[in-house]
Amino acid sequence: MCGIVAYVGNRDAFPLIIKGLKRLEYRGYDSSGIALLEESQLKIYKKKGKVSELEDQHTGKDRKSTIGIGHTRWATHGEPNDVNAHPHYSNNRKLAIIHNGIIENYATIKQNLIKKGHVFLSDTDTEVLVHFIEDIQQETGNSLEDAVKLALREVVGAYAIVVMSVDHPGQLIAARKGSPLVIGVGENEFFFASDATPIIEYTKDVVYLDDYEVAMIRDGKLTIQNLDNTQTIPYIQKLEMELETIEKGGYEHFMLKEIFEQPRSIGDSMRGRVKADDAHLHLGGLSNYLDKLAEAKRIVIIGCGTSWHAGLVAEYLFEELARINVEVEYASEFRYRNPIIKEKDIVIAISQSGETADTLAAIELAKAKGATIFGVCNVVGSSIARATHAGAYTHAGPEIGVASTKAFTAQVTVLTQIAIAVAKRKGTISEEMYRQLLVELENIPAKVERVLENASTIKEIAYIFTYARNFLYLGRGLNFPVALEGALKLKEISYIHAEGYPAAEMKHGPIALIDEDMPVVFLATKDGSYEKIISNIQEVKARKGRVIAIVTEGDTLIPAMVDFVIEVPKTHEMLTPLLSVIPLQLLSYYIAVMRGRNVDQPRNLAKSVTVE
Ligand code: M6R
Repeated sequence: MCGIVAYVGNRDAFPLIIKGLKRLEYRGYDSSGIALLEESQLKIYKKKGKVSELEDQHTGKDRKSTIGIGHTRWATHGEPNDVNAHPHYSNNRKLAIIHNGIIENYATIKQNLIKKGHVFLSDTDTEVLVHFIEDIQQETGNSLEDAVKLALREVVGAYAIVVMSVDHPGQLIAARKGSPLVIGVGENEFFFASDATPIIEYTKDVVYLDDYEVAMIRDGKLTIQNLDNTQTIPYIQKLEMELETIEKGGYEHFMLKEIFEQPRSIGDSMRGRVKADDAHLHLGGLSNYLDKLAEAKRIVIIGCGTSWHAGLVAEYLFEELARINVEVEYASEFRYRNPIIKEKDIVIAISQSGETADTLAAIELAKAKGATIFGVCNVVGSSIARATHAGAYTHAGPEIGVASTKAFTAQVTVLTQIAIAVAKRKGTISEEMYRQLLVELENIPAKVERVLENASTIKEIAYIFTYARNFLYLGRGLNFPVALEGALKLKEISYIHAEGYPAAEMKHGPIALIDEDMPVVFLATKDGSYEKIISNIQEVKARKGRVIAIVTEGDTLIPAMVDFVIEVPKTHEMLTPLLSVIPLQLLSYYIAVMRGRNVDQPRNLAKSVTVE
């Protein structure tokens, strides 16, 4: 959702920023723009649509500037068009700004500025902010940096901004509250970006800006101050990301690459943590909190979308293995209730991006109520990772496809490890079961590899159902959240309406939808609900529904009664979701490709949802 790239140094800013904006395309956007300093003039170029359309407008033109700010916009205030795209000028056109987030009190500020003669061109809250900065600068005679700080003290809402000025060539001012901003520190050059992907090929030295901090590049130097003027020493960290991880590596889409990466990413989420031979399970971030978790009367899990589904899987795991009562909440609902948090409750926040606004706000609320918060995040140094008391990274590597795949399996793998560790500490599982789970966990990457070998069978099935108008996904127990996840994957990238249900709930309504045009995907692996799911399959077949069943290798009973079968290897029942979800990811992917959808950047969606 909205992306920021800014540069100051000795290189040509235009191509560098365009490339950076393309790296951020995965976040979701509807227009883009760039501001440059050309022949001592502040020039803004912007365009609705893809970054490539903005780039095409400038083919053959010499855009000479070694400073610039660029933006991809995901519309909140005002429709997606050229005018509302960022950057925005101030009233006297001496300043330009790019902004992620929402200025909630923009309307009041705008009214006051209009009274003072300011003329606004766009419908955006962002344009109001840059006019406001200019107004403060003129009224107080303060430096631009101080004017930015004064303006931000008045602002309600969330922001990551970068401001440039025609009067200060070589100077960039950036600030954040609630929206991410990373600073890349090179040799006599600096980069700003919403995440590290536009920066990685130039430098691995980065500074993550904190809320209420204002960074300034002036005379080739970086300084950081708080809004209250306290100076902070920039803490430079080394990025662990490699350039290959953010490129397609020969795959047609990032989503396909990420699906096929899962044997590696699941392995990485256990690396150094699980060693079955020695009955070893150790999550560094958990050590100081293991007793707290073991003593917890209740665990509240919060997340959104796919991360919420991972939370539902964890509910089964914690309850079954560690015998702890678990509630799984949509972060967006949790934050607007008055949730009851008791002593000895633990909150686990799950987020791939670590930037989801609702999850972040839910964490702050739970913290204010005295809860201990444990984070399960993928993006290192993200806002959620920093807002939690402790946590375990999923180490899935950058996930670029908007539809979450490897992040989900990594989340489930980490949550499984936590549940096993807590169960061991509590003594709610036997030593034998503990060892068996670790062995099976270690075997998961190889088994995922085997599921991926079925890709061509899944592609054929996808071909048959490419033009289905609806899909039902049914599962029981641990396969119920997988059914939800399968339905979400299909709808978000193929735009086919799909619903996930606990299989037994079908009789309470959805069964009315079943006819010969309704494909029903059954998660029917050999587990405790096997007999029950067979009855549910028969109910669908009796009504001529077309059944695609995900079954355990070697099963002969279900294949005899359904239309299509996809096999997954046998594993411990508690680990089933890690295998049964893979065919559903591939099915959605192939259907979406066959329907000609933009798989990696589906319409209206953003990779990290940084506004509520
Ligand atoms: O970054 P997060 O895990 O916090 O994101 C939560 C959801 O926005 C995300 O899982 C979304 O549902 C995905 N597009 C699903 O594929």
